Amino acid sequence: MSQEQSFDVVIIGGGPGGYNAAVRAGQLGLKTAIIESRGVLGGTCLNVGCMPSKALLHASELFEAATHEFKTIGIEVPAPTLNLVQMMKAKQDSVTALTKGVEFLMKKNKVTYLPGFGKIEGAGKVSVTAQDGSVQQLTTKNIVIATGSEPTPLPGVAVDQKQIVDSTGALSLPTVPKHLVVVGAGIIGLELGSVWRRLGAKVTVVEFLDRITPGMDTEVATQFQKILTKQGFEFKLGTKVTAAKTSAKGVALSLEAAKGGNAETLEADVVLVAIGRRPFTSGLGLENVGIATDQRGFIPTDHFKTSAPGVWAIGDVITGPMLAHKAEEDAVAAIEFIAGKAGHVDYDLVPSVVYTFPEVSWVGKTEDQLKAAGVQYKVGKFPFMANSRAKINHETDGFVKFLADAKTDRVYGVHILGPQAGEMIGEACVLMAFGGASEDLARICHPHPTRSEAVRQAAMGVEGWTMQA
Ligand code: FAD
Ligand code: NAI
Repeated sequence: MSQEQSFDVVIIGGGPGGYNAAVRAGQLGLKTAIIESRGVLGGTCLNVGCMPSKALLHASELFEAATHEFKTIGIEVPAPTLNLVQMMKAKQDSVTALTKGVEFLMKKNKVTYLPGFGKIEGAGKVSVTAQDGSVQQLTTKNIVIATGSEPTPLPGVAVDQKQIVDSTGALSLPTVPKHLVVVGAGIIGLELGSVWRRLGAKVTVVEFLDRITPGMDTEVATQFQKILTKQGFEFKLGTKVTAAKTSAKGVALSLEAAKGGNAETLEADVVLVAIGRRPFTSGLGLENVGIATDQRGFIPTDHFKTSAPGVWAIGDVITGPMLAHKAEEDAVAAIEFIAGKAGHVDYDLVPSVVYTFPEVSWVGKTEDQLKAAGVQYKVGKFPFMANSRAKINHETDGFVKFLADAKTDRVYGVHILGPQAGEMIGEACVLMAFGGASEDLARICHPHPTRSEAVRQAAMGVEGWTMQA
């Protein structure tokens, strides 16, 4: 056993929560170690989440454009052929460049990176078990748990990462399935469903609820579903999967109406199970410091402090949206608290983006939430059909929607359905963080011709003086 090392902060988990905490701790002069068990830093996001999925979304979007759209704008090329091996290699090269970048960030900020599995052994004590079985003991003033999440399993539909896959398997399929059945019409199902549909698969999405993307404004979700259906997605809403049988021919899924009713069988080559994610704390040793998780497995916290003194938790393993940028916000705030500073996260202003085509983004309240809370509000809407840049680019699907207080005009929520919606939501975040009114944005000059003019026009719509771009 090697000599005991001591630190100010030991972070368990090297994802966006963990590595951003490590960087901030290093910047603030805290002696810091980060432990990661997957053999590479970056967590779910860089290795099997945000980044590889965006690499495939980008590549498949270009493939589809070359197949169907180039001709319309006068670019004659032979029908493109898919080199899936090269597409996967390009994805992996990008991921490797990013994870190496995180390792460099650790060195730059004087953070000790300890590959291995971290376990809390008691107050201020953490062990690290390396892949070769050797164990190192650490002592520390603070422990930050950033162990993230894992896919939620679906009883009766066991993932084998070949015929029945979770998001990790769906990022590396060796061939394009003829028929991909996605269970769960959430963000993963629609993003990865889009990738494989664009590359040639027929995609059927089975969803338990009678709508797609719960949490998204209902009006936006309804329009979004229409667009996806036009692209070829098939939806079976209000339907549950009760069993799956694999054979050499494929997978036979047993379906039933969610409310009960006749059973049917759906044949698939590959099934993607994407029904949500759950916090990951297996083998972490929470019991050694008396931390109990809640019914859903999350670690309860108050300003990132757990019930055990000196033990903090951030990211997907605590409640709140399971998003990389939320984990990053948690990380910075938690470390600032540890360093005796004032950390701050505004959970009402964590934006969401679905990176399909078109994209969907939003920040703040949905119309459904305002109605349920009995808030008096005004709506401003602007369709991309009336935006000159969208028209020129032949990409007119979607709209921007502003929700503002009926009396004060303070903005409660902004929702964008359209290409590059993810890039455009930032100005709504800034506006709302400064407590802005829709008139504030409506009176700010925006560049022409851009899609962002539609955002301004929707804000003007709240005032009732929209102009057609
Ligand atoms: P994680 O990234 O899960 O990192 C936790 C790390 O801890 C893991 O690497 C794990 O190996 C390690 N670990 C666990 N236990 C131990 C232990 N005991 N010892 C040592 N190491 C341990 N979010 C977005 O914001 N935008 C997106 O576009 C997006 N796309 C996604 C696409 C997919 C397919 C998936 C699955 C997720 C996506 N997410 C996206 C969500 C995002 O990946 C997570 O919210 C984010 O990674 C959470 O960060 P984290 O640091 O809390 O946990
Ligand atoms: P999700 O919560 O987004 O969607 C899961 C869907 O499955 C829901 O529509 C739910 O009603 C449905 N469902 C649940 N149980 C079901 C069942 N038994 N049968 C059929 N449908 C069922 O979860 P998803 O898509 O797995 O993603 C997990 C998380 O990962 C997201 O919530 C998000 O936090 C993160 N993520 C973020 C991305 C982004 O920011 N662009 C991209 C991908 C993932």
